[in-house]
Amino acid sequence: MRPEDFPHDIQPHLVPEPQGRLIYRCLGCGGEFGIEKLLYICPDCRSVLLLYDSAFDRLKETPGKVWRRIFDYRRMLNMPALNGIYRYHELIGPVMPIDSIVWLGEGHTPVVEASAYLQERAGARFFFKNDGQNPSASFKDRGMASALSYINYLLKYGDVDEILAVCASTGDTSAAAALYASYLYPRVKSAVLLPHKRVTPQQLSQPLGSGAMVFEIPGVFDDCMKVVEQLSENYNVALLNSKNAWRILGQESYSYEVAQFFEYDMKNRVIIVPVGNAGNITALMSGFLKFLDIGVIEDLPIIIGVQSVHANPVYQYYLEEDPERRHFEAVHVSPSVAQAAMIGNPVSMPRVIRLADQYNRMAGDRKVFVVEVSEQEIMDWHLIANRHGHVSCTHGGECLAGMVTAVKQGLIDSSHSVVLDSTAHALKFSNFQEMYFENRFPEEYGVVPKSELINAPMLVRPEDLDEVPESGKPLAGKSLDRFINRVSEEIAHRLELKKV
Ligand code: F0G
Repeated sequence: MRPEDFPHDIQPHLVPEPQGRLIYRCLGCGGEFGIEKLLYICPDCRSVLLLYDSAFDRLKETPGKVWRRIFDYRRMLNMPALNGIYRYHELIGPVMPIDSIVWLGEGHTPVVEASAYLQERAGARFFFKNDGQNPSASFKDRGMASALSYINYLLKYGDVDEILAVCASTGDTSAAAALYASYLYPRVKSAVLLPHKRVTPQQLSQPLGSGAMVFEIPGVFDDCMKVVEQLSENYNVALLNSKNAWRILGQESYSYEVAQFFEYDMKNRVIIVPVGNAGNITALMSGFLKFLDIGVIEDLPIIIGVQSVHANPVYQYYLEEDPERRHFEAVHVSPSVAQAAMIGNPVSMPRVIRLADQYNRMAGDRKVFVVEVSEQEIMDWHLIANRHGHVSCTHGGECLAGMVTAVKQGLIDSSHSVVLDSTAHALKFSNFQEMYFENRFPEEYGVVPKSELINAPMLVRPEDLDEVPESGKPLAGKSLDRFINRVSEEIAHRLELKKV
């Protein structure tokens, strides 16, 4: 629809002008810093930062009801810059001029309700939000669209000529970073650091295909993270990990989309996310808090983070019920099928602690929880979900396993409807499915395949056929007829088909 065709009261709000005053605020000392330069840690106390709009209160002058109409009408606007996460421009990047926004198709991923059979089996009403349907097949594109739009803005309007973007990654951040950086080539180039042999072949192929410089490092993600932190503090590079607060802003779009999907009615909703570096759960809380603050939603949903027993520092932290006595300690991780979340020392932990506290206070009750699941549960529920119409990655399976655990613990009951974040596409992690189906999980994972979940291709090559087609040597005439007949017979026999 063309802008002039929208209702008159909506027209002035459809295409936002740059506005607001974004600042970095330190979560340690409370220091505030301008955004002219990229900052990742507080120059004074080295704590992590978040971006705040110091003119946020202006947004409260518009009633929540009006905001809802603006966001709903923007759905019909045919303007690429506002087709993705910047539909919520005023919350995600208010200072951003439209011409700096980079949109590669991210955002507005489908929310798919599970079949009646699967809901019954899992014990709750639930949906998957398929963030694997983003351009690089994971939710990371949301934050990367925000970070690279900001870099694009600096290149256009700041005194920056070129940028080398770097990140450490368990695979998906690097895929997204390399993709968005390559769109801004030649002024932006990218380098990614990956833990050697700890990303899947599909994930490795992504930054290679986008032309990034790819470095493989011995150790796990936490080791790679230390190296990029060192690089970003000592060299002239732009850090694209979620330590970069622009990433968090972009990932808030997930909350806004979920709210919009449910017509902004968040009462009795539960959102479940896997937790690794803890950027996603940070963004989720921050997003819902902002929507509550400007009156777009009236209730905060319950948020449940899920961790594997093999990488569970956030779960461990919240095991202590008394907030005063909680103490964060990094853990050593073991191999996990939720490999992208295999992180022992999450960079966003101070953000989680701060925001969960604020979230529970605003909700007037505890609404943020963390549950733990086994590797076996993750794998089994991942496979079960996909046997019933989903395209969930192992981390989506982790969410489903977490939901089943939360139902058992009484956190979720029949009054709730639940959204599970399938953070990546199933295809990125198909090697774990293969390991399960072929019963070759190394012992350290602790996964034993259940026969009823195993599937394997069956070769149909009737013994009595002398000739079968081969590449470059097709069959013809009688031998082709014989081949078709025998193979059909064999398949009909295996499927126990009856003749019509
Ligand atoms: N799911 C997937 C598919 C991921 O790639 C990640 C994180 C997570 C869940 C955990 O999210 O870190 O925000 O708590 N992957 C990062 C990476 C660390 O490098 O790709 P988080």
